[in-house]
Amino acid sequence: MTATVEVRPIARSETSLAAAVLACGMRDNPLHVAALGNNLARRERGLAGVFRAFLALEVASKGMVLGAFEGSTLVGVCGMMRPGCCQLAPTEKFALLPRLLGNCGARGTLKLLAQFGNWSRHDHPEPHWHLGPVGVERERQGRGIGSSLLREFCRRMDEAGAAAWLETDKEINVSFYRRHGFEVAATDTVNGVPNWFMERPAKA
Ligand SMILES: CC(C)(COP(=O)(O)OP(=O)(O)OC[C@H]1O[C@@H](n2cnc3c(N)ncnc32)[C@H](O)[C@@H]1OP(=O)(O)O)[C@@H](O)C(=O)NCCC(=O)NCCS
Repeated sequence: MTATVEVRPIARSETSLAAAVLACGMRDNPLHVAALGNNLARRERGLAGVFRAFLALEVASKGMVLGAFEGSTLVGVCGMMRPGCCQLAPTEKFALLPRLLGNCGARGTLKLLAQFGNWSRHDHPEPHWHLGPVGVERERQGRGIGSSLLREFCRRMDEAGAAAWLETDKEINVSFYRRHGFEVAATDTVNGVPNWFMERPAKA
């Protein structure tokens, strides 16, 4: 059954809600299992804390966060960083550190820092919008909600004539993103997990 959703930028006051939706949707992604371990509740709680910190940056200054709403219920989230904003400054990393440690512990923090370091090394050298995080509530996946978010993201990219870049840790997502114009630019193994780096060229 296809869901009918309204897609719009979330308000700053909806940041915590959006972080919870992402943590629910992305709880079982292989990178998060590798970083945060096997306890489902602890993983979801830790991720919600990390996403709150990231989304606050995206909403406040570095990008934008789209939400998919079924009626008044937020069911999917698509964050993005503006060109030139996706690599955090040393001061921003330092400010994030207590949030990572508090939510993920020392081992989780080290794993996540290794992941972000790898992603930075692969980052597209040309100006681009950086897509992510993207997630739909677990029980609502496969009903077209992610596609609605991606259509709006791509509409915005095409209107701006901008290129886009993303990382993903699930092979099933590669065909999902291909349908929206992304192509695989590189692959690597991060914390023992295969990752795909994908580019969507700017439309002339
Ligand atoms: C990836 C994701 C955002 C896609 O949103 P969605 O609403 O489930 O996807 P849609 O219904 O619009 O599109 C379905 C397509 O998405 C892909 N897909 C990826 N994960 C899926 C899932 N858990 N369930 C169903 N389809 C999924 C498939 O290619 C599917 O195509 P098919 O129907 O031909 O098999 C969502 O499934 C999700 O949150 N997954 C877990 C978190 C994640 O991996 N996020 C992306 C990180 S880069």
